[in-house]
Amino acid sequence: MDLMEAIKGRRSIRKYKPDPVPEEVLGTLMEAVKWSPSWANTQCWEVIVVRDPKMKSELVTALSKGNPALSSITEAPLVIVLCGKKGVSGFKKGEATTAKGDWLMFDTGLAMQTLCLTAHTLGLGTVIVGNFDHHRVAEILGVPQNIEVVAITPLGYPAAEGIAPKRKEISEFVFNEKYPVRE
Ligand SMILES: Cc1cc2nc3c(=O)[nH]c(=O)nc-3n(C[C@H](O)[C@H](O)[C@H](O)COP(=O)(O)O)c2cc1C
Repeated sequence: MDLMEAIKGRRSIRKYKPDPVPEEVLGTLMEAVKWSPSWANTQCWEVIVVRDPKMKSELVTALSKGNPALSSITEAPLVIVLCGKKGVSGFKKGEATTAKGDWLMFDTGLAMQTLCLTAHTLGLGTVIVGNFDHHRVAEILGVPQNIEVVAITPLGYPAAEGIAPKRKEISEFVFNEKYPVRE
């Protein structure tokens, strides 16, 4: 699969088969995360792999009932919880380098996209889940204060295809030379 095919073909998957994900496949995905770019190569990401069904049931309690990814957390054989170490990305000698402060959301976002694209090329499904009670998940998983829980994805073999939501036209988000003046 070429890169553009992977980028355009990856979908959020919310229905999973119970089939296990082989450990070597999981290893390939972690290798993909390892080679993601990051601020000054700070690699602030940390990954928690949840396999225990009881743990997955607990994680579900951190999602609202209306979250479309709710059932996929218990359905998928694995759940990946992506975290970031605070005060590393975008920092030099303990000081934030830019007005944006911590770049951990950016770097973990890159890592998540790398993971999701790689998973797709291996026939696996993912759905990035960001809308949940992050404090609750940190509590359930024993994540310390200096580490931020960022996003979750179930991981497994898709039981149903995802439908591609419509995208904006390129002309709606690409501007030439300057930001357009809008009335
Ligand atoms: C940061 C982020 C948070 C998201 N949170 C959720 C979520 O809580 N629940 C969910 O079902 N989908 C979630 N999604 C998935 C998006 O809804 C999905 O990526 C978008 O609709 C485009 O569909 P596609 O991934 O199939 O291209 C999230 C995606 C991103 C990037």
